[in-house]
Amino acid sequence: MITLDGKRILVTGAAAGMGRAIAELAAGAGARVLATDRNAEALTTLDVDGVETATLDVTDKAAIEALFDVEPPFDGLVNTAGWVFHGTLTETGDEDWARSFQINVDSIFHTIRAALPGMIGAGGGTIVNMASIASSMKGFHFRAAYAASKAAVIGLTKSVAVDYMDDGIRCHAVCPGTIRSPSLIQRIEALAETMGGYEEAEAYFAGRQPMGRLGEPDEIGKFVCFLLSDAATFATGQAYVIDGGILA
Ligand SMILES: NC(=O)c1ccc[n+]([C@@H]2O[C@H](COP(=O)([O-])OP(=O)(O)OC[C@H]3O[C@@H](n4cnc5c(N)ncnc54)[C@H](O)[C@@H]3O)[C@@H](O)[C@H]2O)c1
Repeated sequence: MITLDGKRILVTGAAAGMGRAIAELAAGAGARVLATDRNAEALTTLDVDGVETATLDVTDKAAIEALFDVEPPFDGLVNTAGWVFHGTLTETGDEDWARSFQINVDSIFHTIRAALPGMIGAGGGTIVNMASIASSMKGFHFRAAYAASKAAVIGLTKSVAVDYMDDGIRCHAVCPGTIRSPSLIQRIEALAETMGGYEEAEAYFAGRQPMGRLGEPDEIGKFVCFLLSDAATFATGQAYVIDGGILA
């Protein structure tokens, strides 16, 4: 069993889905967690020992910088907030493309840039960025902007790992398959309208995994906690696939 005793960890997009699972599991493993999300109301339901909450929209660069200015250094930063645009390339408008990069990539650039001085000053730390197998790893229908943005997350992750290795920084990307979360449920509901029913639409998403099911947020959260722990100190700069066998 890994421990995160004594570690302070900031999680973005922590009110729901994988971010929430990561915040809860990290606190359960002994960390003090600052769970942030743009949805202040949803954060109020995150009532767990070891978890404090703060409203943070990751597209607000000034708010990110203000938060890191006042907070003591974090041992761990988990960039979970993200957004899926559904469309082929020709269905993607300029705004859809820009928003995909703003939420999925620029946000991580800004949080890492704000977090690094404190982390380095404290002797090091761990950064985990939520990418996806819909990225440089595999094409999926209707994910042009999303996959391009998540491929950028992998590139950014590797660059940070290499540039700050001597400063004690480890930087990872995690690439999930299809995980049951509020936004996935919305995507299932949208597909259900064209497929004739929720069960058919859920079966479509579940069937993408050779394991024949959706992943659960905890199955990603446990792996992220391992990466944040001192059990993973020889690992950095990798994009870890947890996808129910899609890329097996
Ligand atoms: N669910 C999947 O199948 C899947 C697969 C691969 C990768 N991912 C990625 O995992 C991450 C988490 O997705 P999920 O599906 O677990 O959760 P989700 O999308 O259901 O919820 C994420 C949380 O992020 C918050 N959020 C959204 N935009 C934000 C912003 N601008 N600032 C701060 N918070 C914001 C939401 O309020 C919500 O609480 C995303 O980066 C997503 O792209 C998801």
